[in-house]
Amino acid sequence: MSWYKGLKGKLRFGEPLARHTTFKIGGKAKFFIEPKDTADLRLLLGRLKRYKIPFRIIGSGSNILAADKPLRLAIVHLGSPYFRKLRLQGNYLQANSGAWLAQILRFAQKKGFSGFEFMAGIPGTLGGALSMNAGVPGKNIEDLVVDVEVMDYNNRIKTLKKKEIKFGYRKSSLSKYIILGARLKLNKGPCLVIKKKIRRHLDYRRLTQDVSGPSAGCVFRNPQGASAGRLIDLCGLKGKARGKAVISTKHANFIINTGEAEAGDVLKLMALIKKKVKAEFNVTLEPEIKIWK
Ligand code: EPU
Repeated sequence: MSWYKGLKGKLRFGEPLARHTTFKIGGKAKFFIEPKDTADLRLLLGRLKRYKIPFRIIGSGSNILAADKPLRLAIVHLGSPYFRKLRLQGNYLQANSGAWLAQILRFAQKKGFSGFEFMAGIPGTLGGALSMNAGVPGKNIEDLVVDVEVMDYNNRIKTLKKKEIKFGYRKSSLSKYIILGARLKLNKGPCLVIKKKIRRHLDYRRLTQDVSGPSAGCVFRNPQGASAGRLIDLCGLKGKARGKAVISTKHANFIINTGEAEAGDVLKLMALIKKKVKAEFNVTLEPEIKIWK
């Protein structure tokens, strides 16, 4: 029996990860699977375990630098219609983990629910955002969380209340689970006001961040009390290039793929940045993006 017999979702062989990361970088994944629903995901994880196939979960691929070489892995993408479902329960927004943040934002605005506006312009899915506690300075997705439904690596499903989850700056204890969905607490508000707030966040991003080409957003985490972008800028690194990867001239914590950049080019720029910032400010920058080798 082949290991995938009976799975209902989509399965692709040798799928280029460059198609699934916002950097548009990444070699072929041996298996790329989109389970149909939770039952299918459970079956899939059981099989991957039984056949000893290592796997990783991918959301929108907005925070990943994947190696160019073929990855001998199964990549599990929670992108089926089931995993994108949203609904309202009183003042709670119940969303499955594959829902796009932009999709949640549109839904909340249309229904007149406020609280999610600060997430405007952050690329990604709910699962990814929860796992890394995405947000803006002073406000993170944890502020909205009521509870999160997860599956552990023994295929057990449980609901974690907010107080059972540890959230930090761009990290959370949820990263050790497969996130299935969450309830977020929002407040009733006038649609027009919500729309204006969203516009303000989007305008600030467009003004300050580089959307001229594929990137993974901020490459490094902000060190305590400072902006990594500002430190990199002060080192005079804007515009430095390795191959087709370039440090943005607009926001120095962005690396832009100006066309067919390789993961190795990005890693070289990251090493250069770390070295210069350490030499100039004695600060050790930590990557925010995840590196898949
Ligand atoms: N700055 C510079 N030069 C630069 C970039 C920034 O001098 O090249 C200065 C700015 O002028 C500003 C300060 O640094 O005075 C902070 O810049 P910004 O407001 O752009 O914020 P940031 O700290 O660089 C953080 C998040 C972003 C998030 C913005 C929203 C991190 C690592 N970055 O950026 O998140 O969108 O705030 O305001 O937490 C991401 O996580 O991928 C991301 C982009």
